[in-house]
Amino acid sequence: ELHQRARGGLAGQSRLVEAERQRRGGGVAVLLDVVVHLRVGETERPFSSVKPAAVHAGNAGAVLSRLEGAGFRIVALRLRSLTRAEAEGFYHVHRERPFFASLCAFMSSGPCVTMVLEREGAIAGQREIMRATHPAKAEPGTIRKDFAASIERNAIHGSDAPETAAFEIGYFFPGVELI
Ligand code: CMP
Repeated sequence: ELHQRARGGLAGQSRLVEAERQRRGGGVAVLLDVVVHLRVGETERPFSSVKPAAVHAGNAGAVLSRLEGAGFRIVALRLRSLTRAEAEGFYHVHRERPFFASLCAFMSSGPCVTMVLEREGAIAGQREIMRATHPAKAEPGTIRKDFAASIERNAIHGSDAPETAAFEIGYFFPGVELI
């Protein structure tokens, strides 16, 4: 069911709501109850990656500790070095940006800690704990403020939407059963 929600987003939710309504025999109150439950208690699974500079600086454990301390569960984990082509494929949405070549060179310069996380409201929650892309604009206590070296070497990447999470998890953990 969680897989279906993560993959299908709103469409998946609608299908679940309809299935639940039929299972319980219908009724507006039941339907509303299920919609509210799905929206408020939505468990999400974003992709996340500790970037090479933060791994090289020995901060991977500290970053993971921040995530776990904020209630994220690690459901997949792999240390891996990206090829330049893999970095370019991962960041293809930024291919027209002036920083694309430098970003891909950096992301393939050393190992990343790639993960799938799980928590209720995980996508917004991870953005909250990472904070602004540029560390200078991030609040103290956030991962990027405390561990980022620059806007490019900003310590951590996290999926920004369910659709992005589906692409990114498929990219880095193809065929892997998430626990
Ligand atoms: P991330 O959240 O992984 O998504 C895209 C990445 O591009 C971003 O983090 C930064 O590492 C990098 N990035 C974004 N804006 C800039 C910029 N203006 N200059 C250099 N790198 C950037």
